[in-house]
Amino acid sequence: ISSSTPGPVILTVPLACFLSLGFISCQLMRFGSIGGNITLSPSSTVNFTEIIWKKGKDKVTEWSTNFNVTTYSLLEGRVHLDPKSGDLTISNLTSSDEGEYEMKSMDLTDSSKFHLTVLDPLRSPTLNCTVTNEIISVHCKMPQSYRRHRELLRYAWHCPFPQCEGSWELEAPVLNFTKEGDLSREVRCFVKNQESNRTSSIVLSTCVPSADNSRHRYALTAVPFAVIVCAGHSQIFLRSSLQPPSVRGP
Ligand SMILES: *[C@@H]1O[C@H](CO)[C@@H](O)[C@H](O)[C@H]1NC(C)=O
Ligand SMILES: *[C@@H]1O[C@H](CO)[C@@H](O)[C@H](O)[C@H]1NC(C)=O
Ligand SMILES: *[C@@H]1O[C@H](CO)[C@@H](O)[C@H](O)[C@H]1NC(C)=O
Ligand SMILES: *[C@@H]1O[C@H](CO)[C@@H](O)[C@H](O)[C@H]1NC(C)=O
Ligand SMILES: *[C@@H]1O[C@H](CO)[C@@H](O)[C@H](O)[C@H]1NC(C)=O
Ligand SMILES: *[C@@H]1O[C@H](CO)[C@@H](O)[C@H](O)[C@H]1NC(C)=O
Ligand SMILES: *[C@@H]1O[C@H](CO)[C@@H](O)[C@H](O)[C@H]1NC(C)=O
Repeated sequence: ISSSTPGPVILTVPLACFLSLGFISCQLMRFGSIGGNITLSPSSTVNFTEIIWKKGKDKVTEWSTNFNVTTYSLLEGRVHLDPKSGDLTISNLTSSDEGEYEMKSMDLTDSSKFHLTVLDPLRSPTLNCTVTNEIISVHCKMPQSYRRHRELLRYAWHCPFPQCEGSWELEAPVLNFTKEGDLSREVRCFVKNQESNRTSSIVLSTCVPSADNSRHRYALTAVPFAVIVCAGHSQIFLRSSLQPPSVRGP
């Protein structure tokens, strides 16, 4: 991404741009999960003679045609530099890998900048329901063990009722049903982050106490419905416009 091309551009990748010393500087927003891998790619077609990757002010790795790849202690053993493409691959990501990365080379007019966000591996949401005054309330929550960047989670309901129509929710959502409705149907809570998505489901009738049971509170653990992981490019959350990289979410 060239800092010399400001103005409206059609974005196909999440990008954060900000003003710095009168120039617009952009970073590619990249997301990985703890224990996963990520490849930061400068997407250049030049034949490199020299490459330096830095994390913040610290060198991560460097290479030039006369020298072998040198890796510094910061990420020792977990980085791989491909001198041909300039791609930096970090494996077995840890939370401390989060931050700003920059690739510099004499062969490029501008450096390539990235902001890496390291998420917890996504879990299936838990669904529980409570019955109060003939109203069934279904709660969808991400387990507390998912701690990092919970603000980036998005939730949505899927069910054959009008309540489930609508857009993504930012907060752990609650959905209300009347006991008179068709309780044999399944309600699904869908949750996603920039890396992957998960769904859990519940059948409404399991929320309603049977005749010989007068308790008014029921809880149950959701059945993990689908397990899908997708590493690499995430175009789910488009980040654009002039905002500092520290600002998250729309
Ligand atoms: C990460 O890369 C390593 C080495 O290339 C590989 O063994 C491992 O399976 C990868 N892990 C994931 C989650 O892709
Ligand atoms: C890169 O090197 C290859 C082979 O040495 C050459 O064919 C190609 O034209 C070079 N590309 C550029 C952009 O210089
Ligand atoms: C690069 O690595 C090769 C093989 O490991 C070694 O023979 C060579 O001396 C190294 N070159 C430099 C400049 O370190
Ligand atoms: C990944 O990192 C964790 C913690 O640093 C370590 O316990 C684990 O052995 C590493 N796994 C691999 C495949 O390197
Ligand atoms: C759902 O029902 C609960 C309990 O009756 C009520 O407190 C809450 O406001 C309702 N929420 C919505 C969105 O209707
Ligand atoms: C069900 O979820 C709601 C909302 O998170 C919570 O207030 C309630 O305590 C939960 N009930 C049980 C039994 O876990
Ligand atoms: C959920 O993840 C799968 C697999 O990566 C992907 O094909 C699908 O489009 C995702 N769904 C949404 C709504 O993001």
